[in-house]
Amino acid sequence: MFRNVEGTNDLLPGAQKAIVRTEIWHHVEEVIHQIMLRYGFSEIRTPILEHTGLIARGIGQLTDIVSKEMFTLERGDTSYVLRPELTAPIMRSYLQHHLEQQSGVQRLYYLGPCFRAERPQKGRYRQFHQFGAEIIGTDDPRADAEIITLMMEVYDTFELTGAKLRLNTLGSAETRPKYREALIEYLIPFGDALTAISRERLSRNPLRILDTKVEAERKILENAPCLPDYVDQESLSNYESLKRLLRAVEISFVEDPMLVRGLDYYTRTAFELEYGGIGAQNALAGGGRYDLLASAIGAKNPVPAVGFAAGMERLILAMEASGAPLPTVRPFDIWIVSLGETAGKKAFEITHYLRKSGLRVGMEPTKRSMKAQMRLANRADAHRVIILAEQEMQTETATVKNMLTGEQKSIPFIELVENLTK
Ligand code: HAM
Repeated sequence: MFRNVEGTNDLLPGAQKAIVRTEIWHHVEEVIHQIMLRYGFSEIRTPILEHTGLIARGIGQLTDIVSKEMFTLERGDTSYVLRPELTAPIMRSYLQHHLEQQSGVQRLYYLGPCFRAERPQKGRYRQFHQFGAEIIGTDDPRADAEIITLMMEVYDTFELTGAKLRLNTLGSAETRPKYREALIEYLIPFGDALTAISRERLSRNPLRILDTKVEAERKILENAPCLPDYVDQESLSNYESLKRLLRAVEISFVEDPMLVRGLDYYTRTAFELEYGGIGAQNALAGGGRYDLLASAIGAKNPVPAVGFAAGMERLILAMEASGAPLPTVRPFDIWIVSLGETAGKKAFEITHYLRKSGLRVGMEPTKRSMKAQMRLANRADAHRVIILAEQEMQTETATVKNMLTGEQKSIPFIELVENLTK
């Protein structure tokens, strides 16, 4: 017997847990499509397989995602990767298809599976699903504000309250390297007091140490150099504009100078949406501005852009944890039960024509007893049941039972479709 790969999920109809119930996924996806449409975004779908070089250069060689978490496949001389995110693939697609030649900025959204070889736990999977949006072609802070309001709209629509939006500015391309050096210089004397993971990060990816949850390390960081002190004037004034725009539409946020994000392509705006109550993996969504990504993956000129991505699984976990309303399964309009071979064939025929007329109709193609079939009809929450047995076949009339009132009536076969669809 095989089982699914660790860190992946089978989504099943009617599953107990919302996070693996297909009906919930349909509903959530549908709502997201509607919101994106209303905000003027169009869907983009890129392949799950990308060239490893694109992801490595786009996200950054030294990031955890690229250095430890990629699912790579070698075939011949080519190295492929199962995409760990969609921002770099979308920028690739934008450049490849010259979308800059279309009029106006590009507003693109997406929904689909991503892969990261992380240690699986609640809210953290090896195959997970992201939805997100990118505005490509402008460095105006209104685009940053629009991306954030769009992200918040999704959680608002699902009536998820209590999520915390953290905001920061990472400055220009020069800011990070300067800050990185200052942080290393400050942390080196504390070497022995750091955990093994942080010591390793110190040389490779020191900004990740800012995410530490170890109390002793947080204490050390209290006096560490502060990122905003290294940010250039223009980025600061953009940051002020963004904050004003968010306040104008009553989006609350907290400023967090320690927020750096785990991907290297960000400059200026960075943000994360956090939610308590879904375990240690509490980031619902994150994003920011990435004006240098296009150049990093080979574009001649920089292409300003900003976006967000969110975990579908974490959204559903949060909806469940918060008691936000979850959709129920659409009940059957009609269930057909039959006894005997001739009635069974008639049941198949009637099912077909009622479905063609637009009704949701259920029928079990087995030779179960009437009682067992009625049990199925009940479980399917069917509004009406059509009963076909010997007597019905002789009189060419179906017995139709209303499951809510218990009322029964006889309807001739030839009038069934018309009668049940009016
Ligand atoms: P990210 O923060 O790496 O950003 O991922 C975005 C969201 O994906 C996270 O907040 C989380 O909800 C979800 N996520 C990430 N890893 C996992 C996992 N292993 N299991 C379950 N959920 C996960 C990005 O990917 C950027 N591309 C965001 C962006 C878009 N920046 C600009 N545009």
